[in-house]
Amino acid sequence: MQAVLSYLRANERRFIAELSAYVRFPSVSAQPQHRGDLQRCAEWLTEHCRSFGLEARLHPTAGNPILLARTPRKPGAKKKHFVVYGHYDVQPPEPFELWKSPPFEPRIEGRNMFARGASDNKGQNFAHLKAVEAFLKTGTELPVDLTFVIEGEEEVGCENLAPFLRAHRDALRCDGVVISDNGIPSPRHPALTYALRGILAIELRLDGPDRDLHSGIFGGSVENPAMALCQLLAKLRDKNGRITVPGYYDDVKPLTAYERKQLASVPHSDASYRKFLGAPALSGEKGFTSVERRTSRPTCEINGLTSGYQGAGSKTIVPAWASAKLTFRLVPDQKPDRAAKLIVAHLKKLCPPSARLTVEVGHAGEPYIVSPTSAHAQAALRALKAGWGFEPVLAREGGSIPIVNDFRKILGVDTLLIGMALKDDNPHSPNEKFDLDCFAKGMATGAHLWRELAAA
Ligand code: BES
Ligand code: MN
Repeated sequence: MQAVLSYLRANERRFIAELSAYVRFPSVSAQPQHRGDLQRCAEWLTEHCRSFGLEARLHPTAGNPILLARTPRKPGAKKKHFVVYGHYDVQPPEPFELWKSPPFEPRIEGRNMFARGASDNKGQNFAHLKAVEAFLKTGTELPVDLTFVIEGEEEVGCENLAPFLRAHRDALRCDGVVISDNGIPSPRHPALTYALRGILAIELRLDGPDRDLHSGIFGGSVENPAMALCQLLAKLRDKNGRITVPGYYDDVKPLTAYERKQLASVPHSDASYRKFLGAPALSGEKGFTSVERRTSRPTCEINGLTSGYQGAGSKTIVPAWASAKLTFRLVPDQKPDRAAKLIVAHLKKLCPPSARLTVEVGHAGEPYIVSPTSAHAQAALRALKAGWGFEPVLAREGGSIPIVNDFRKILGVDTLLIGMALKDDNPHSPNEKFDLDCFAKGMATGAHLWRELAAA
């Protein structure tokens, strides 16, 4: 083990240079013009895995290719097998003008690497690859068999991954999945994340008159769809910050006293949190702390709102239509299908007869929760302590990784979520970064993890 850890330390500069090469690919899955960049990024990663001894193969899909990379198997050896999941696609970098340096030209400042995808998720999956390189290159026997599954469609809903898992069920039969695509409260509080929120996307549109109208001549005598949409949306949440859809909370599992204590165990200040967000005040569901609100409670968010004239100056119209993109974060034990039915029925009830409502239910993912006391979870906690040098905490997080439920359904195994990202890493925002100390600690944790899991 000492040889592995020394190798990781001795080669850190090279690893940073390699990660720089990885983040240079503008592998933006949402934008069709980057299709070739995704392919090239995946090919680079495949070659890179081969360069240090993994058996790597790129599998084409209807979308972007999926990389499978296996550690060399020792004939006759009966080892546990784990799948390590990650994604090489990234979020769109826009708006460019808010970046201090170009998003695909990594900039290292102090102990941070700034680039789109640096922490979400290239830096984190690369840390796991480098930990395995250390075993292979020092001739240290890996105590487990590993298969890396690194896909290119996570940021657009993982459409091709579940069918891929089904088609490769035999090769992927394993004892558990490990994912680092999430965060930790701070470097002094590494975490095992045992719950994630799910998600449900809904787009709605209100149509009024069959064309934009002069608001002086006709306004007041016909519905204004933008106004009607605002009124309708405003009714989705009450003054206590609760979603008003009837029956919506029936399947929400309350936080236990133990969980609330765990969530509160990490030092947190609402004042500095407010400052960090740059918001005039914090707000949210009554009766819950900020940490609980953003990790463990259902939400309804407007992600986009469109109607009327958006250009320079003023244009006096009653717009013909208005539309909104919403996402609802779901918590255990909410089911996306049930939530969608209730929400659609509620929207129909709220829509006035003066407007025509169209609702489109989009992508969805179930929430996730897993026992933090299993033998594997305990092994992960020991590895986190060894890798980060601090006692780990149990965390719930508000983001969604819908594929963890597919791993459970298709492969029949649980996922260990051991993130390396910090709260100020700016995922999905301008100036995304990855802390290079977290990179080092993440690699070390990866190395410890395989020994702990083998013995668990
Ligand atoms: N890595 C994130 C998810 C995440 C972030 C989980 C922080 C826990 C903590 C992932 O890449 C992501 O952004 N997922 C999307 C999922 C959606 C597009 C289905 C999300 O959460 O919005
Ligand atoms: Mn991610």
